[in-house]
Amino acid sequence: MSRSTESVAAIVVAAGSGVRLGREIPKAAIEIGGVPIVVRAVRSMISGGADRVIVAAPEAWVERFAQWLAAYGDRVTVIAGGLLRQDSVRLALGYVGNAGIVLVHDAARALAPAFIVDRVIEAIRGGAQAVIPVVPQIDSLRRTRKGSTVPVDRSSYLRVQTPQGFTTAVIKRAHEAVGTTEYTDDATMCEAVGAEVTTVPGDGLAFKITEPMDLVLAEVIARGE
Ligand code: CTP
Ligand code: MG
Repeated sequence: MSRSTESVAAIVVAAGSGVRLGREIPKAAIEIGGVPIVVRAVRSMISGGADRVIVAAPEAWVERFAQWLAAYGDRVTVIAGGLLRQDSVRLALGYVGNAGIVLVHDAARALAPAFIVDRVIEAIRGGAQAVIPVVPQIDSLRRTRKGSTVPVDRSSYLRVQTPQGFTTAVIKRAHEAVGTTEYTDDATMCEAVGAEVTTVPGDGLAFKITEPMDLVLAEVIARGE
């Protein structure tokens, strides 16, 4: 089948607890402008061109997340995630069905604009095996060495965002091969099984809500929508 007709399944990983935010509820359940983070992330995937979305949720929240997303009908499936992020992705990969293209997106990047989703999908349709959105490193960087620090050239570093895009074959192969090695993103796993990683421009709005300050920023952005 040509890549132009392949359907797109987006995996939204939302099973983390959000320790660094320090709230009582999981990060993906926190509301921004009255809309839960997980709902915003799913909305962004669908608006950007995903045909279906699989959400990996904290086990105790599966039903509630499914209720919040009920309006999407069978386009959205909520499952229980795993211990590590990569476990959540692996479990969700069991639900992508016949989709030829898989996106993996952090729910925590709740404000990722639809145009990035579209950009990633188009890069895969254009022939790439693995695609990552990247943004320049804006702070100066230093590397720790022997109890001291040395400067590094920041222009040779990029920050990696999600959604990341893959052919279904590549991402499945990567997750089957992973073993016990821990990875923070899927493109790196795909590279480990020989896939070439392609970059597309990311966007500031795809920042990851990680620390309390990020939630303040997200609220302000949501107010301006
Ligand atoms: N994630 C997941 N399953 C896990 C761990 C993380 O689905 N076992 C998801 C999170 O829900 C989040 C994304 O992976 O959307 C990126 O992880 P991160 O920002 O680290 O979120 P948390 O792990 O929830 O936060 P923290 O590390 O502060 O606990
Ligand atoms: Mg985490």
